[in-house]
Amino acid sequence: MSGNHPGLSNNFSRSGEKFSWSKDNLRSIKNIISKYPKGREQSAVMPLLYLAQEQNNNWISIECIETIAETLNMPKIRVTEVASFYSMYNTRPVGENLVQICRTSPCWLRGSNKITKTICKETKCEINDTSDDNKFTVVEVECLGACSNGPMIQINNDFFEDLDEESTKKIIDNIKEGKPNIIGSQKGRRSSENAQ
Ligand code: FES
Repeated sequence: MSGNHPGLSNNFSRSGEKFSWSKDNLRSIKNIISKYPKGREQSAVMPLLYLAQEQNNNWISIECIETIAETLNMPKIRVTEVASFYSMYNTRPVGENLVQICRTSPCWLRGSNKITKTICKETKCEINDTSDDNKFTVVEVECLGACSNGPMIQINNDFFEDLDEESTKKIIDNIKEGKPNIIGSQKGRRSSENAQ
């Protein structure tokens, strides 16, 4: 989990637009900060990074860092350190659909290489690349915690598990065509119950 996506690493950049919290996020921030002891408000940096990323088209710009630092009254470098450490924070712009392919041993043994090839072919993206139409960014990541249902990928906030080449292509096709996808196991397994 630690360390950023290989291709998204630590290259913070400016979006060129001021980042100000939305009204909803200002309310959420008040609530989040109230959960920490007085004087320890800076501990809220991770949930605030998450909110900023959500509001800022799924990436953390330098403007986001500055706003978080101001909100929590902490040095910008401290916010930057946290944002660059965890792979769930995207430190450069990503496409509409961030496709994270698990490449760790359990998924690899179950064929994650084939899933990667299929995704790269269908999205016309290399690993760590964004498609020309900005629809997809494709990255490889380490274990996402659904090993018993590998091979698996995460697209934005959703897991897709028990994949093969055919089901992977279908998922990408559905996204391209604006059709809904079935989230979770693509073989109808509930949770991680035994495969039939
Ligand atoms: S190894 Fe792929 S989810 Fe754990």
